[in-house]
Amino acid sequence: MSGNGYDGLGVVKGRTIAGAVRIYDTTLRDGEQSPGISLTVDDKVSIAHMLDALGVSCIEAGFAASSEADRNVFQQLVTDGLRADLYSLSRCLRDDIDAAHGCGLKHVHLFIATSDIHLKYKLKMSRDEVLSKIDDSVTYAISKGMEVMFSCEDATRTEYGFLKEAFLTAVNAGASIIDIPDTVGVSMPAEMYELVSMLSRDIDVPIAVHCHNDLGLAVANSLAAVEAGASVIHTCVNGLGERSGNASTEEVALNLKLNYGVDTIDLTGVDRISKIVSRYTGYPVAYNKPLVGRNAFSHESGIHVHGILNNAATYEPYPPEMIGRSRDIAIGKHSGAHSLKDKLSAMGISFPDERLGDLLEEIKTLSVGGKEITDIELAAVAENLLWRGRSEVHVRLDEFVVLTGKNVTPTATVTVTVDGVSRTCAMTGTGPVDAAVNAIRAALDNRISFEELRLESITGGSDSLCEVTVLVRDTVVDGHISAGKAVGIDIVDTTVDAFMQAINRDYARSR
Ligand code: KIV
Ligand code: ZN
Repeated sequence: MSGNGYDGLGVVKGRTIAGAVRIYDTTLRDGEQSPGISLTVDDKVSIAHMLDALGVSCIEAGFAASSEADRNVFQQLVTDGLRADLYSLSRCLRDDIDAAHGCGLKHVHLFIATSDIHLKYKLKMSRDEVLSKIDDSVTYAISKGMEVMFSCEDATRTEYGFLKEAFLTAVNAGASIIDIPDTVGVSMPAEMYELVSMLSRDIDVPIAVHCHNDLGLAVANSLAAVEAGASVIHTCVNGLGERSGNASTEEVALNLKLNYGVDTIDLTGVDRISKIVSRYTGYPVAYNKPLVGRNAFSHESGIHVHGILNNAATYEPYPPEMIGRSRDIAIGKHSGAHSLKDKLSAMGISFPDERLGDLLEEIKTLSVGGKEITDIELAAVAENLLWRGRSEVHVRLDEFVVLTGKNVTPTATVTVTVDGVSRTCAMTGTGPVDAAVNAIRAALDNRISFEELRLESITGGSDSLCEVTVLVRDTVVDGHISAGKAVGIDIVDTTVDAFMQAINRDYARSR
């Protein structure tokens, strides 16, 4: 591939934010709360190690009070030792704090709801009761020597005066980070900016945000929070999390790098962890998901591929290598000649420019219905086209129809033109291929016998192209054997194509 550099086009925009930003990954807690996800202790331990290797600053690996399995995860991770700060979620309850502390944890994430709707319909508590729970639980955790991050659940729907009071209560009791959860994902970036700005004027500890994606704004809200001074962002790999998920770890980290030049995690590892989290959770990654979706660096349309081949920055906002991926030139119905040539030369196949148009036509025919042509299929089609191009056409198949089904005698009708004379024949057979072969042979006065058929599925998938090779014998002239080969989507059509190839080779030889 030529010129795939970014030719001096900076991908980092250089907007500025004050100070460092830390990623607080909650894949193993909020992410695991996604319906249908149930990770084993081993799964969680190995994902936590991967997150640690990626360089996230904090890992919320579960909720110690909620299950023995989570306590086992914490104990194992404490024994292993991580670079990241390891947090357990905890209600503002002494028993919950004891469960986290009992696992040997030094960090705890305490939360209690503060919005009126949660107080009235869920907690059934007054504001004063909530404040006293905050004070008691934070004081208790601090007395155990733990560091506390404190969240007002549903913060973005909490009346500002009470929100500030709740956070101040936590900070006065010793919390060292306050977190603003946008629990039901209703905030707008401008509102998040305003809220973080107000809290950072009123309270002097680092601010975290925990943004849910119900309205598709989790990443935008997290970035707005960072612009307003937040320094800890809660995220989940692949954007997992309750309902529509949380801000995705990879999207937040890449945006911080591209827009502000801020380094957080090792971006080259995000593709791998995305795949592993997807496999362990059973949650597929959408093809079009930013960064880690299958199509993020896949180019098919001729115009785009042409641009990409000259300078990748034409249709890519940043190089795929930056996140541990590589570019893919997909071959399908939107492909152009440049893509084909580039793919073939990458596979070491030199294909004449003057035949590219024919190859393109063939590919477009084969990819009707959206089939993507794999590299190996492209190579087979191209090689077959070159091979076919070397024989002249003496016998032309003008029409071909085959009727087959259950409890139907397969019957084929063909019209062929031999040296300018047209002939139509219909024959039956044991199957559609046999009927077609019999009809073509009859139209040629049985000069050619069908000796051998070899059929291969190129990729093995149910939508694979097939490659058919046939051997025929000239039973009238001299018994010579000729071969024919074709690549196509339909077994009967492709066999007929290969048969016609072989027939033309025989006729060309014996002229
Ligand atoms: O979404 C939320 O409010 C939470 C809290 C427990 C922080 O996950
Ligand atoms: Zn949440």
